[in-house]
Amino acid sequence: MTEQRPLTVSSAPTGLSGRVSVPGDKSISHRALMFASLAEGTTVITGLLEGEDVLRTAGAMRALGAKIVQEATKWVVEGCGAAGLKEPEDVLDMGNSGTAARLLSGVLATHPFMSVMTGDASLRSRPMGRVSVPLAGTGARFVTRAGQKLPMAVEGTGEGKALHYRLPVASAQVKSAVLLAGLSCQGETVVEEPVPTRDHTENMLRHFGADVEVTALPEGGRRIAVQGPASLKARDVVVPGDPSSAAFPVVAALLVPGSEIVVSAVGQNPLRTGLFKTLREMGASLELRDERVEGGEVIGDLYIRAGRLKGVDVPAERVPSMIDEYPVLAVACAFADGESRLRGLAELRVKESDRLASTVALLEANGADVRVEGDDLIIQGQASLPGGGTVCTHMDHRLAMSAVVLGLAAEKPVKIDDTAFIETSFPGFVELMNSLGAGLAA
Ligand code: S3P
Repeated sequence: MTEQRPLTVSSAPTGLSGRVSVPGDKSISHRALMFASLAEGTTVITGLLEGEDVLRTAGAMRALGAKIVQEATKWVVEGCGAAGLKEPEDVLDMGNSGTAARLLSGVLATHPFMSVMTGDASLRSRPMGRVSVPLAGTGARFVTRAGQKLPMAVEGTGEGKALHYRLPVASAQVKSAVLLAGLSCQGETVVEEPVPTRDHTENMLRHFGADVEVTALPEGGRRIAVQGPASLKARDVVVPGDPSSAAFPVVAALLVPGSEIVVSAVGQNPLRTGLFKTLREMGASLELRDERVEGGEVIGDLYIRAGRLKGVDVPAERVPSMIDEYPVLAVACAFADGESRLRGLAELRVKESDRLASTVALLEANGADVRVEGDDLIIQGQASLPGGGTVCTHMDHRLAMSAVVLGLAAEKPVKIDDTAFIETSFPGFVELMNSLGAGLAA
């Protein structure tokens, strides 16, 4: 992704209206491709997110020996089976995707060959020690650049030692990496998480036939155990709409006066819906209808109507259930009545950009009153934001989409330096917003 795509966003000409569905869930899409590649047999995936990040995972799994083809709206994966992956001939380029790089580290740790992973400038600046340090306990060897950054070489082990690991940070990526390594180890691999994080890995491993046991820890966390060696069996996957992508049209419709929209078939996994809960606490008209189960996941249709919001105090325990939604929540808070305090945001500093700093810069450039205290973000809302700022998105798709939402609701046009990275998670975002009446220059 080399060509920059600047965009100037003016306030929406009318209220947003219509019914849309958002692309497939990014977390589930990465996992579907990886697990299908490790399984015996043929998996058909429906609703896969065809964004850059997920295509990187597809490319890496092909380089490791899986056959992955797109057939109209379906993706068909012929897996390699247990211990069936082969040494890649070249460096694996994971692009912008932390999920792809971290989850794959777990797979590579316990396969007996050598591989090298790299990524774009954003991914090369993100910490990999959070996976390479625990995974080294399997007997694998990791060599990184200074500061535990990519590129990273992995010398995998064929006789991995099963890990027992308590997560020092609430991270579904780290949890998943350890569990994936455990699939090829002898005995029980255990991860303890002090605060529950998204459980797509556990759910999908079970779906593919692995023996996964989840128990509640007394202080509120979870213990997840997987028995190895596990041989996964191909099972079809239906990917639900991504709640983290739905967040952008949802907040835009709340903020642009006169809006009334429906976002259909959005995943409602309770470990992903912290934003919707928070918006309801702010007084949003956000109704979930027609809840149903599709492909083992609860989905539902979101009905949104614009209206004034009030400030909110979001506890730190809620962070994992809405980790990617803070930039757009911060935009909503900037337009709310009164003060909002978003607590415990340290992890935002190591996302595609330093999202705490870049969210503050986005709001400040457009006239909002915002400050950071420790790891908390405090925003004084106002009825209307001046806008007129220039936003630097730092290769961060969610910053870019949050800036678009802000521009649609602000008084003066907002200039965004580069929207190309939106392709990583939400291909067709500008077109989808325009179908609702956003009037963005294509
Ligand atoms: C993800 C976990 C989260 C999230 C990321 C996707 C996943 O990262 O920010 O977009 O699919 O497991 P962390 O595990 O680093 O919090």
